[in-house]
Amino acid sequence: MKEKALMNRTIVLSDEDKNIYQKFIHDHFEENKNSIIQGDFTVINNQIPDKYVDLILLDPPYNITKTYGENTFKAMSDDDYYEYILYIFKKCLRVLKDTGTMYICGDWKTSYVQRKALEFLENQGVCDVINRITWARDKGRGAANNWKNNIEDIYMVVKSKDNYTFNLDAVKMRKTVLAPYKDKNGNNKDWKDDGEGAYRMTHPSNIWFDITVPFWSMAENTEHPTQKPEKLYAKLILASSNEGDIVYEPFAGVFTGCVTAKKLKRNWFGVEYENEYCLIGQKRIAMSELNDSIQGYEDSVFKDKQI
Ligand SMILES: C[S@@+](CC[C@H](N)C(=O)[O-])C[C@H]1O[C@@H](n2cnc3c(N)ncnc32)[C@H](O)[C@@H]1O
Repeated sequence: MKEKALMNRTIVLSDEDKNIYQKFIHDHFEENKNSIIQGDFTVINNQIPDKYVDLILLDPPYNITKTYGENTFKAMSDDDYYEYILYIFKKCLRVLKDTGTMYICGDWKTSYVQRKALEFLENQGVCDVINRITWARDKGRGAANNWKNNIEDIYMVVKSKDNYTFNLDAVKMRKTVLAPYKDKNGNNKDWKDDGEGAYRMTHPSNIWFDITVPFWSMAENTEHPTQKPEKLYAKLILASSNEGDIVYEPFAGVFTGCVTAKKLKRNWFGVEYENEYCLIGQKRIAMSELNDSIQGYEDSVFKDKQI
């Protein structure tokens, strides 16, 4: 194990951890079991019954060359990526309940191809795309001759736009009220003060500025190259599922979706083919037994970004 700098809270695996957590890793899907499954999505997904899950958090490889542990995903032509992602979407939609929601992550190069595949499925009456969230993720690699790439797109896809879960109150945003007016009777005009300043709970929009990517001083950070933040997934899970629902995370990486679902009292399972990432996922699950806090989400309120 590498020695870590002071304040570096990155989760790493010791040899002892590997021994402890390996026995909890599953190699196939089992009904009614919250589990980390090591395997190929194309195989494991076939083991899941039709219309089994309430929420899918799909964060597939984007169409860029990227190494994940032992494997490298190679960028391909848009046409090839279209076929690749359409195949994944179809497989995921089969296991999604009629009332379910699937969120799909992508970047600017990837998401327009994903959109074309979704349009094809919409035309077949298989699903409805009802929103696209833009996450301004703040950190990114700077470029000498280009704008730093700082956004991610997240499509919100439902089986039926007439029947799906959306828990608005669970994801309302606390906004500071800069001009706390009172009406002529001296009552607050649609704002409250709990001792921490005037605020109002507002409808959350589809552009998110309040979430940073995990980095070394955050307790949730790992060495996975494209780890999503728990706060991001907490919003998706709270809005689009209820306690006890089943959250499925294909292409799970270090299982951020599963860990966050567990913290929010949902059932969960995920699939990832890299052993090391599965072990880190299992370690995070074990850590969440001792501490189920989600950075940036306290007392059922999403706090502003803290960096
Ligand atoms: C974009 S990352 C997901 C990161 C994840 N959201 C997290 O927070 O850690 C995609 C993951 O899919 C995995 N992967 C790629 N192809 C796969 C396949 N066919 N079956 C299972 N996992 C796969 C990669 O190893 C990688 O960890």
